Amino acid sequence: TKKSVKKAVIPAAGLGTRFLPITKSQPKEMIPVVDKPTIQYVVEEAVVSGIHDILVITGRGKRAIEDHFDRSFELESILKKKNDYIALAELEEIAKLADIHYIRQKVAAGLGHAVLCAEKHIGDNPFAVLLGDAITLSDNPCTKALIKAYNKLGSSVVAVERVPMQEVKKYGIIQAEKVGEHLYRVTDLVEKPSPKEAPSDLAMLGRYVLTPGIFKALSKTEPGLGGELQLTDALKLLLKKEQIYAFEVTGPRYDIGNKLSWIKATVELALMNEEFGSELRAYLKKLLGD
Ligand code: G1P
Repeated sequence: TKKSVKKAVIPAAGLGTRFLPITKSQPKEMIPVVDKPTIQYVVEEAVVSGIHDILVITGRGKRAIEDHFDRSFELESILKKKNDYIALAELEEIAKLADIHYIRQKVAAGLGHAVLCAEKHIGDNPFAVLLGDAITLSDNPCTKALIKAYNKLGSSVVAVERVPMQEVKKYGIIQAEKVGEHLYRVTDLVEKPSPKEAPSDLAMLGRYVLTPGIFKALSKTEPGLGGELQLTDALKLLLKKEQIYAFEVTGPRYDIGNKLSWIKATVELALMNEEFGSELRAYLKKLLGD
């Protein structure tokens, strides 16, 4: 019988070089978008997708992540004294979101290596991988759609999105044949190709549901682009043994992979904010002269 997807892995060990100097002494995953750190959106996506066991792959300098999902008794008692029960409930909610486990990736050896650090925790089970480079909104969670596809197909499923050809060099790109609505059967994958080498404009956006077969593939994968163990290369190896599908995501998705797209995501999400969205809209209009 097919096992269901109960665990997620959130790789959060990267050095955040695209966000320097913000990330010199603070983890990239703690960069805020409006009023929450990025990783909280990612954890919330896993939770609304039905996952309550999350393994975060961390590294040196990432302790703020663990503190964020822990209780904070000092803050709680101060909020209680102030009768600020709304803020208090919000803090308690964060600490209760899920069972979050942590393991350190001791060397910056790539995304594939980070996922391999999860092998013991995941065991012989399918699991989700959520990178912090994208935020999806909770009424349309990407991971939930992938799990649904996995339940139907019993194979690994990666989330993809069409990108402009001049941007394929930022992503893992798939070659695929369309087999259904929003659904493709993957025939090849390549990490960060030039526009000329790219087999398509379908880019992996950082959400995956993987079979445990990926661990064997990862352990056999040679270092690739940048001398790093690439998840994309391991998927290519897995493809020799198992089918892999791609699910084309259409729902709202906010890219936070670099400074400009993070600022855009912040503005878009702030405009939707109930408390100050309309005020911000008026302010931006005035600032830009309608
Ligand atoms: C990673 C993956 C890449 C994927 C991307 C999504 O790259 O290696 O295949 O398309 O995430 O954001 P990174 O952004 O870490 O360079």
